[in-house]
Amino acid sequence: MTTNRRKNSPIAEALLAWYDAHARELPWRVGPKAKKAGARKKSTAPDPYAVWLSEIMLQQTTVATVAPRYAEFLARWPDVKTMAAAPQEDILGQWAGLGYYARARNLHKCAIAVAEEHDGVFPDTEEGLRALPGIGDYTAAAIAAIAFDRRAIVIDGNIERVVSRLYEIDTPLPAAKAEIRERLEKIWPEKRSGDFAQSLMDLGAGICRPKAPSCLLCPVSKNCAAQKAGTQENFPVKAAKKAKPNRVGAVFALMNTKGEMLFERRPEKGLLGGMLGLPGTEWKEKLNGDALKSAPTKAKWQKAGEATHTFTHFHLTLDVYAGTAPKGFRKSADQQWIKPNEARVPTVMKKAISLATV
Ligand code: ADE
Repeated sequence: MTTNRRKNSPIAEALLAWYDAHARELPWRVGPKAKKAGARKKSTAPDPYAVWLSEIMLQQTTVATVAPRYAEFLARWPDVKTMAAAPQEDILGQWAGLGYYARARNLHKCAIAVAEEHDGVFPDTEEGLRALPGIGDYTAAAIAAIAFDRRAIVIDGNIERVVSRLYEIDTPLPAAKAEIRERLEKIWPEKRSGDFAQSLMDLGAGICRPKAPSCLLCPVSKNCAAQKAGTQENFPVKAAKKAKPNRVGAVFALMNTKGEMLFERRPEKGLLGGMLGLPGTEWKEKLNGDALKSAPTKAKWQKAGEATHTFTHFHLTLDVYAGTAPKGFRKSADQQWIKPNEARVPTVMKKAISLATV
């Protein structure tokens, strides 16, 4: 018997049947109903570009937030060559508010690599995909499975939770990942790899939730060690998180007589790299000396409030100053005048702008 014809594990059987009946309809997904309706049509194969775009957007961001933003991206850049041809600032502007901006810079780099080095065709193996900018282990496996039905072991946060409960894995994450992978290796089907990955994601999102999971509706509750023991909510075990330090800084909202505000592009390297923002100080543990020394010009600066925002590694408090450009003020080459409500900026800058414009 070849491995191709190996029988599915009971867990794979149960999850695939459940997925056929209950898969979420998601904009980037070719679900079981659509696959069945057009089984012989090539057009029902998932578009690797759409799968890639959605998977990059869905890292660190919820399905509910991504869905409308994904539609905007796809409408503006319907294929990888169009995206590759766009200026990076347009991609970053379209990404504004989604956070983790390295994803957007890498999205563009990856589009360029696929367009220029692969003639616009995504590689169809995990290894080939992993060699592209911004594609790590998770994304390579997800695209290989979902777009190309490769048997690739996909592990995201939802899948970690489901598997750690199925087998009561008490090693704390992230160390538990190896054990989770071994368990998945044993149950992952040869066929319908993409559907299986997405069945685990949907199960984790809708049924095997972090709190109060709906075990009565779960297709694999009888296979679940944690369910049997009543310990579902104890899994996954996570290593203690370090407390986040605080940082402080100041930003300056300078208005001109046309109702425009002064913005500047942040350096390519570093936090919010390449994004537009308000001019300001560095962000440190303590404000060094007089923040107003970092203002873009001498003006009657008024404190408008404090904007707070939490990043992955620290909490930030920004003093927001508002002022009017003095006569004769000339912006520098990296600065732009933009109407505050039209600026496509990161969330922390949105908060600062709204304090300065009330
Ligand atoms: N989260 C990340 N990728 C996903 C997908 N393909 N379906 C549902 N949720 C996801």
